[in-house]
Amino acid sequence: MTKHRALITGVTGQDGAYLSQLLLEKGYAVHGVVRRSASADVMDSRARWLGIADQIELHDANLTDITSLLRVFDQVQPTEIYNLAAQSFVKSSWQQPYLTGLVTGLGAANVLEALRISCPGARYYQASSSEMYGLVQDPIQNENTKFYPRSPYAAAKLYAHWLTINYRESFNIHGSCGILFNHESPLRGIEFVTRKITDGVARIRLGLAKTLPLGNLEAKRDWGHAKDYVKAMWLMLQQERPDDYVVATGRTTSVREFCHLAFSCVGLKADDFIEIDDRFLRPAEVDFLLGDASKAATQLGWTPETTLEQLVSEMVEADIERIERGARL
Ligand code: NAP
Ligand code: GDD
Repeated sequence: MTKHRALITGVTGQDGAYLSQLLLEKGYAVHGVVRRSASADVMDSRARWLGIADQIELHDANLTDITSLLRVFDQVQPTEIYNLAAQSFVKSSWQQPYLTGLVTGLGAANVLEALRISCPGARYYQASSSEMYGLVQDPIQNENTKFYPRSPYAAAKLYAHWLTINYRESFNIHGSCGILFNHESPLRGIEFVTRKITDGVARIRLGLAKTLPLGNLEAKRDWGHAKDYVKAMWLMLQQERPDDYVVATGRTTSVREFCHLAFSCVGLKADDFIEIDDRFLRPAEVDFLLGDASKAATQLGWTPETTLEQLVSEMVEADIERIERGARL
């Protein structure tokens, strides 16, 4: 058996794809949890985009079904478990609060219980979120900043976050939480604002759309590249002691400024195309996020490598190429 066996829940998502790529490069056997879908043809589209689909062993399970997790954990006997699965779209969490609580919150309880019963020595990563800071209580958020969740998603993430800390203290598991600020890439889901913008820019540039409808342009986020952020996840599990870390760039940018950057990549002016559409506003907003990742820098040796300008241009170029090729993702 290979020494390092990683099991990733949420392997079909953005971070799951980049984390798989990183772990394969490091010589891990990579296993992933996938929930059964009628759209099986697109299930591993991100891994295929990265050219690694045939190197990941997929297992049928669901975060809401602990028996399915136990079966997979028993079979794989992972040395590291990365719990990335979630209903991760904040806006949908008001439409589906129960489902969000079940998957994003209680799903983590199922994963932790399966770990405790089946492979208690495995190291555990919990995908916590800067969304937990919500109505921010400090101008720059670090590991000591108080949480103030502003969505059903954030409340569910907070439950999973504290449960991980509780299992660390109760059962001595090696469980770490990465409080990751927003991170994006060409593999970002199309519903999130950055990818919606870069896809919209590509469509307008190629003459396929005339406008880009958006909600709150004044919200500010600390945006980094997912490829950089999965390195921090791995580093957390290589530490002797489990702990919690903020992962961020230390730069905050408004949605409006992101639009300006993206449109300027193709020589266009954002103001000529953006339309405000109330359907994209939220019942409660997180106005401002800005992370201080100095603990991750000092203790993990982690710093971001990609600038926002590089991220935006990579995303715009990928969307233009994707549309020209007629590729799905
Ligand atoms: P994502 O692209 O939305 O991926 C979510 C993954 O969860 C998908 O693989 C999805 O599977 C899976 N999933 C959903 N419900 C499931 C269930 N009931 N059972 C099993 N799997 C299920 O998210 P991401 O951007 O990669 O983020 C990864 C994690 O980090 C998430 O937990 C997210 O909340 C958290 N996070 C993300 C960010 C960010 O900026 N990206 C920041 C902080 C925290 P399907 O493909 O079948 O839908
Ligand atoms: N999605 C979306 N669509 N957001 C819009 C739009 C729009 O048309 N117009 C403005 N926004 C604003 C949202 O109101 C929000 O303030 C901001 O853009 C970012 O929205 P998202 O890209 O949907 O991300 P998020 O910050 O709500 O959540 C992401 O980051 C969290 C970490 O802070 C997700 O990846 C979460 O899973 C993650 O935990």
